[in-house]
This record gives sequence, structure tokens and C-alpha cells, in this order.
Amino acid sequence: MSPTRTVKTGPPMQDLCAIVMAAGQGTRMHSDLVKVLHPLNGLPMISHVLEMCRRLGVKRTLGVIGYQAERVRDALGVLPVEFVVQAEQRGTAHAVLQAEGALQGFEGNVLVLSGDVPLLSDALVERLVTTHIKTRAHATLVTTRLASPHGYGRILRDPRGAFRAIVEEVEATPAQRRVTEINAGIYCFRAPRLFAALHRVKPSAVKKELYLPEVLPILRKAGGRIATVLAEDPREALGINTRAELAEAAAVLRRRVVDRLMAAGVTCLDPASVHVSSLASVGRDTTLYPNVQIEGRTCIGGGCTVHAGSRIRDSRLGNRVTVLDGCVIVESEIADDCAIGPYAHLRPGSHLKRKVKVGNFVEVKKSVIGEGSKVPHLTYVGDATLGERVNVGAGTITCNYDGFAKHRTIIEDEAFIGSNSSLVAPVKIGRGAIVAAGSAITQEVPPDAVAFGRAMQANKEGRAAEIRRTRGKK
Ligand code: UD1
Ligand code: CA
Repeated sequence: MSPTRTVKTGPPMQDLCAIVMAAGQGTRMHSDLVKVLHPLNGLPMISHVLEMCRRLGVKRTLGVIGYQAERVRDALGVLPVEFVVQAEQRGTAHAVLQAEGALQGFEGNVLVLSGDVPLLSDALVERLVTTHIKTRAHATLVTTRLASPHGYGRILRDPRGAFRAIVEEVEATPAQRRVTEINAGIYCFRAPRLFAALHRVKPSAVKKELYLPEVLPILRKAGGRIATVLAEDPREALGINTRAELAEAAAVLRRRVVDRLMAAGVTCLDPASVHVSSLASVGRDTTLYPNVQIEGRTCIGGGCTVHAGSRIRDSRLGNRVTVLDGCVIVESEIADDCAIGPYAHLRPGSHLKRKVKVGNFVEVKKSVIGEGSKVPHLTYVGDATLGERVNVGAGTITCNYDGFAKHRTIIEDEAFIGSNSSLVAPVKIGRGAIVAAGSAITQEVPPDAVAFGRAMQANKEGRAAEIRRTRGKK
């Protein structure tokens, strides 16, 4: 599960390709979104399968797509996967057959995985492959035992326990439905024999679909050996067909990631409510408070504290960073010893250098804030570059947008911006300059100057008392 794990390329993985079935709509989800893109612990469901292929060092991974193919392609484009299209979803055997052309001439073994079975451990799939090779099987599959096997294909064995066939729930007799050993839908085949057998699969009796498990009796009857690998932990074989199963899988995955983090020295005050993406990393002696969400490829250093209700996505935090309650941090970079929040929003492209403080109700976007600078309260910093040891008073706004285009604000080292100032971009505040509170700054402020961008104050001596007197008469 560790994202830093090195990729395996040695035997038996070097001659291994993978096919990931992902063309179905997922009707049982009742969704406008194709099933395999439903987020699972912050990543599209199928990404968990593809990331495993990557970690295992599989030579080539082919994703079979069909329903909302373009959407799947767009979502997964960054991963090392080639796509083949199954235009019409005629069943899992038909899905795998679509990869035949792409694997023409490949004589090695092929893993067949399912985009909706995302909880497999690397160890289980490694055991599948090594068993397949050691037993010289023509096909090897993962099975498990479930107290309630509803919805899964059941494993049929002969009286001596040897594998015979798989029967799908809808096609099974009442007696077959009582079988508790199920097909996880995860297989290893010798590629040439798989494709030869796929051409011989006939449509099923009830649903008239081409079922992948049908290749197993075909291979067996041709004299091939079929091996099985039992997943001791049935949660690894969980197939996601419904929203309830999606939630179940998410809980398993969350707990797995949190357990791994705790084992590596992270404190989770309430492990059940902490959500950490499988691709995130968190350093030792970091503390995560309840209801924290760490999403995407976020990387958090050591000795940090993330308080309750904060969400951090695709960001890098250095060491000893404090994130107070209720912050949202997206695609940002935060160096060591920074303090953020409570209720701060760091939008994409925020880059905080060391020892920066970004306080209450501050929004930052596409800006660099230099070392030791402070933006403590109620401020918007957008499209700006702040130097070192700058102090930005409460309520300051960089007016970066004139209704047509965005403009930059530059604030040089040690400048001081008085509270409630509007810095109308493009504008530059020179090194060591002071902006008087309540200013609207529309022109460059030279270094070490004081800028008053507000109306002069006029005091009328005794006028308040006079007003009170005249009003009192009436
Ligand atoms: C399948 C297995 C079943 C097993 C279960 C494990 C078959 C016939 N049945 O059932 O034995 O217990 O998985 O989870 O294989 N897909 C395509 N093209 C198609 C049809 C499906 O790409 O034409 C993809 C789906 O998108 C999905 C995967 O194949 O990712 C499995 O299909 P699904 O319909 O979910 O099969 P199950 O009914 O779960
Ligand atoms: Ca399924």
C-alpha cells in the first residue's frame, strides 16, 4: 500500500501484462457517472487497480473502456495505461477479447482485473501470479468465502475438491446458490490460451452474455490445469456494484491507510473519522485531528499538526506545519514551520515559504509569500508575490481583477500594509514601504515611502457637543 514502494520488475512480473475491465455502465449504481470513476477514498475507483499494476511492475496495462469512454480516458490519462474500446458491452469475456489485438504476439501471462474490485492487496495478486507459475496452470483465479455470497459467481468443485466451473447467481440452482466460495473476478492466464478459449465462449442461458468465467471449463476440458488462490480476508475481494458496497469499500480502505500511517508514527486522534488518500504520505510525529481529509497525492512532512475539519488536496507541506481548524488547501506548497488558519483557504498555486503565517479567514491564490511574512486576518492575496518579513494588515485585498483580466501585485521585503487597504493591481509596493491603513493604492509605492491612499481626516472642534445640544432642543 505504501506509495513510496519500489516498483517490481524482476520475474515473475517482467513477463506479465494486465487487462482491467471497465467498460460497463454500472447500472446498479443508478448514476450518471460510469461506475469505475466513482471516487473511492479520493481517487476514481479504477485508479486503485491501476496503481497496483504500476506498483507490481506489470509490463503493459490495458484498460477496456466503453460506457463514457472519453470520460474515463480523461480521468486516467496520467496513469501508465493503454485503452481499448468495447463499443457494446456484451459481457466480461467479450470485454477481455477486445485486448486481443493489442496483445498480439505476447506469449507471457496476463492478469485480468476488474475496475470494480479495488481492494486487492499487492501480496494477494503476487500470490496469484506465483501460484499460477509454480503450478503450471493454464488459468488461476482468486476465490474467497463469504457468509452472504449474494451477487457473486459461485465456485463449483468436484467431490475431490478440484475446480470445475463458475456459475453466476442468475443462472444458479438453489443448491448452487448455497455455495459460499465465490469468484473474486481476478485471474491470471497464459495469454495465447486465454484468447483461444475466449473465441469459444457461448452466450449464457439467462442473460445471453459472454461470461469470462466460461473460459475456465473450456481450458480445463482441453486438459489444462485450473488453480485457485483463496483470499483469507474476504474484504480484499469486495466487488463494488452498489453505493452501499462503495461505502463499505471506502471504510475498509480508509482504515487500511490509517493503520499504515499509525504503524509508521502518525497520531490519529480519531482513526474512524480521518480520511487519507492511498496516494498521500504523512511523516512521523504528525498529528491528525478528527474529521481531517487528506486527498490526492498530498505529501505532509513530520511533526505537523492538522486540526479538525481541514481538507488538504494535492499539496506539499514541509515539517512542523500547523494547520488550524477548518482550512481548505488545494494544489499548494507550504514550507517548514508555517502556521495556517483557522478557516484559511489556500487555492491552487499558493506557495508559502518558511515560517509564513496565514491566519483567520484569509484566501490565497496563485501567490508566493516569502519567508517570515504574516497575513494574519481577513485578507485576499491573489496573483501576488510577497517578499520576506512582509506584514499584511487585517482586511487587505489585492484587487487582482478589473473585470477583464487578472493583474499581479508585488510587495517587496519588509513592507507593511496597513489594515483594510485595497491594492489595485498591477501595483508594486517597494521594499520597507508602509501603506497607511484604509488606503486604496493605485500607483507604485517607492521603497521606504509611506503611502496615504485615503482622504485626509478633518476634525471639527466642539461640533459633536453642538449637535447634541441642537437636537436636544427639539
Ligand atoms: C463478475 C463475475 C462474477 C464475480 C464478480 C466478482 C462474470 C460474468 N461474473 O460479476 O463471477 O463473482 O464479477 O466481482 O464475469 N465489464 C465490461 N464489459 C462488459 C461487462 C462488464 O468491461 O461487457 C466490466 C465492468 O465494467 C466491471 C467488470 O467488467 O468492471 C465486472 O462486471 P460486472 O457486471 O460488475 O460483473 P459482476 O456481475 O460483478
Ligand atoms: Ca462487479
